[in-house]
Amino acid sequence: MPYTYENLLALPSSEKNKLLMRDGKIFHVIFAQQFDRKILDYLCQTATALRKIAKTQEGVSFLRSLLPHKSAMLYFTQPSTRTYLSFLRACQYLGINDGSVRDPSISSAVKGETDIDGVRTFSSYFDLIIMRHAKNEFAEQCAYLMNETDRPIPILNAGAGTGEHPTQALLDIYTLQRSFETREKGIEGLHIAFMGDLARGRTVRSLSQLLTRYKDVRITFAAPESLRIRDDLRTTLKGAQIDFTETENLDEVIKDVDAVYVTRVQDEHDVNNESAAIDYTPFHLTLARLERMKKDAIIMHPMPRRHELEPEIDSDPRAMYWRQERNGMWMRATLIAYLFNVDGDVLDYYASNCHE
Ligand code: NCD
Repeated sequence: MPYTYENLLALPSSEKNKLLMRDGKIFHVIFAQQFDRKILDYLCQTATALRKIAKTQEGVSFLRSLLPHKSAMLYFTQPSTRTYLSFLRACQYLGINDGSVRDPSISSAVKGETDIDGVRTFSSYFDLIIMRHAKNEFAEQCAYLMNETDRPIPILNAGAGTGEHPTQALLDIYTLQRSFETREKGIEGLHIAFMGDLARGRTVRSLSQLLTRYKDVRITFAAPESLRIRDDLRTTLKGAQIDFTETENLDEVIKDVDAVYVTRVQDEHDVNNESAAIDYTPFHLTLARLERMKKDAIIMHPMPRRHELEPEIDSDPRAMYWRQERNGMWMRATLIAYLFNVDGDVLDYYASNCHE
């Protein structure tokens, strides 16, 4: 088959997964569906080891000694606070040298260089490229480009347009796993409600796909009519045989859920300011709605938030979104350790040096 992006982008997921692997393991991280249950459990376990190692000065020194010979490029041309900083800190924890381009107006893009040529250039200087880009397929294209070069380096998708945000989904799974670790079946059998802009929220798309890896999980998607999940996700979820329902009435389900995943209106993707006409208030998590939730349920939000999540909720023990941010740093450090094959060293150090 001739090498064109068009025919690669059209391949089925199972074929793409193979192209994103090397030596029998994940090499490029582009889609949530690359992660099966085994690797999810493994990453959560390793993230906990890494997080606990980082509690002591000796542990931090050990982590920093793991990858001082490696470098990572953070190429973030879409706005970012958490994802950028947590990846940066993840690299720093592992002793990785970092570089970044965030503002294309001061790079050779202004001289007319294409973004894909820019990425090829970064790959000459770095060992990993972490990228956030407005175009849904861009990270995937870069991964295929790398596969064709003499010096392929991993591409890590840190948010692709309205498409996917796989590392957010990993940290969300880690947050769920930690929150329900004393429950016999962990994440299995939970009822999770996603609320808000489910049409354009990439975190929702990636996390709901990872939830198909857990038995008996039920999902409720609560969104205004025009912001319901898209058909491609519906098809994927049906194919995975996960139990999901869609509603415009959050209040019908709020008392039954184990976790709510609140999202903001993604109005940066509006074409004609159409979000302004939507009544989003039925999808706000207010104190009144919180009252009706189970006492052991949790509240998640990928952040940033606006009015959909009242700040008064922050002090409720069910609010998990600040911890969720910090979990992101540990999960991202773990994923990078895995990509560079030092995850085993993290577990070995933990087994020999950390006692509960
Ligand atoms: C999200 C994103 O960028 O998709 N933020 C994040 O990475 N935590 C969600 C959002 O912007 O609403």
